Amino acid sequence: MKFTLNVDHVATLRNARGEQQPDPVTFALMAEQFGVDGIVVHLREDRRHVNERDVRLLREMITTKLDLEMAAVDEIIEIACDIQPELVTLVPEKRQELTTEGGINVIDNLEQIRNAIIRLHEKNILVSLFVEPDIEQIDASHGIDADMIEIHTGTYANSKTEVEMFLELDRIKLAVEHAKKLGLGVNAGHGLNYANIKDFLEVEGIDEVSIGQAVIARSIFVGLEKAILEMRSLIK
Ligand code: PXP
Repeated sequence: MKFTLNVDHVATLRNARGEQQPDPVTFALMAEQFGVDGIVVHLREDRRHVNERDVRLLREMITTKLDLEMAAVDEIIEIACDIQPELVTLVPEKRQELTTEGGINVIDNLEQIRNAIIRLHEKNILVSLFVEPDIEQIDASHGIDADMIEIHTGTYANSKTEVEMFLELDRIKLAVEHAKKLGLGVNAGHGLNYANIKDFLEVEGIDEVSIGQAVIARSIFVGLEKAILEMRSLIK
């Protein structure tokens, strides 16, 4: 299973003072040296963390791969088509949310998402859809030619009891199995951390986990290298 690092919160910290440090691009380059398999950023319409300069520089500088999370809206699709990351992950986006609050509703937004996929495919960009572990959403994703899905693991990560957690893990296992049968690639992410990743590793067939908050937070205490190596050794 590969491990990609979301560096949005490095940009959040930089933006807190409107200055240049800490720079998310430098941070991403160091993370690559310490062994992550890719860099993830979410270019939001309100630019609350990374901005266009960050994404363009990441595109130029990183040597692993760039996964650009974004809403399926014209302005950001144009930027993505120009920058050409290896992967775009389409996510729902609300101005007021603290973080992405759930999977994208592919069924209710079929035409908008299909059009985004067509435009991104014209530039040879692979497209992943961030969805709940829901068979109907996965079928819809496959039906509009997504290359992969990213399973939203927020419900798993936020479960309050072991029963809730194992029920959600079962749901995720079925969803991954179904997606694999359809030939979709499967990533996963949201709320994964050093504790809950252990049970999550039971799920077979996940190509990549995308983790941000937990690793960035830990790096403040122990340094980036150790934070990455600890997560790496859990994921193997
Ligand atoms: N995957 C997606 C689609 C996300 O929106 C996020 C949060 O930005 C993550 C993964 C990473 O979540 P976390 O920061 O909780 O690890």
